[in-house]
Amino acid sequence: MSTAAQRAARPQHLLGLEAMDREAITALLDRAEALAALSPPVRRTVLAGRTLATLFFEPSTRTRMSFQLAAQRLGMDAIDLNVSMASTSKGETESDTLRTLAAMGVDAFVVRHKIEGTVGALAAELDPGVALISAGEGRSHHPTQGLLDMLSLRQAKGADFSRLRVLIAGDIRHSRVARSDLHALRALGCRQIRLCGPASLLPDPAEWPGCEAVDDFDAAVEGVDALFMLRLQRERMSEGLVPSLEAYYRDYGLTEARLARAAPDAVVLHPGPINRGVEISDAVADGPRSLILRQVANGVAIRMAVLDWLLGQGDD
Ligand code: CP
Repeated sequence: MSTAAQRAARPQHLLGLEAMDREAITALLDRAEALAALSPPVRRTVLAGRTLATLFFEPSTRTRMSFQLAAQRLGMDAIDLNVSMASTSKGETESDTLRTLAAMGVDAFVVRHKIEGTVGALAAELDPGVALISAGEGRSHHPTQGLLDMLSLRQAKGADFSRLRVLIAGDIRHSRVARSDLHALRALGCRQIRLCGPASLLPDPAEWPGCEAVDDFDAAVEGVDALFMLRLQRERMSEGLVPSLEAYYRDYGLTEARLARAAPDAVVLHPGPINRGVEISDAVADGPRSLILRQVANGVAIRMAVLDWLLGQGDD
């Protein structure tokens, strides 16, 4: 599925979205839709004979399963290391674990890790022919989530992001999804980005130049075309950043009443897993404006596109 120009430009790894411009992101979104549209027998030839290994040092359902499915749908062998039962628990370093699997013939690794810098450090130790894709690193990067969010938004709102008014709301401080989304939104031309959340969960403003921070959630929702809701990441918080879950829902939960303040055809995204009744109501999460399950479906397509981009041979 790769053109010669795209092959020439492709990197060895995908660790973040910072280096990707509009053309590169658009090419991946197009590639995801093209791969999703291929018949299963044709699709299974795309990366037949190649091997993917997923290693999640933090929990995951969507990213882990969709990388496994994406690889299988492209004809790859896909293996998953159960980290809790692996030899890392006997003292083997994570680097030695990857090198051991690479010696078995793994062509690409997908790694999630909570410690900043770990995924990049592991990638730097791999041989030139072996790819590594970040499945989420600390608070910084979740590149395939950013890409699948852009595909979901493009399908709902069209390719011109320059007129879109976007709200990113909730626990922005701990969110690698928000950081990857921000890079991708800007690369695709989105200029009107609002941020809203409790002061304790907002990032340093220097990290988000050009975004409008709005304190009051009702005011922040006013007139927006897309709402990127974020999970309250209690596992990354010291206690006391929010007074209570009830107070958080009262002040920052997306309800139907609040959604009514947005543009009439506004759409709601959430990376999942969702905390129902904390950052979003059941009615909104399961309602007609929700793109949440569309995002999940697009996750498989985007991960196929990324694997093809990094590993493909250029057969159109
Ligand atoms: N959105 C996301 O990364 O979900 P998982 O943690 O289930 O992979």
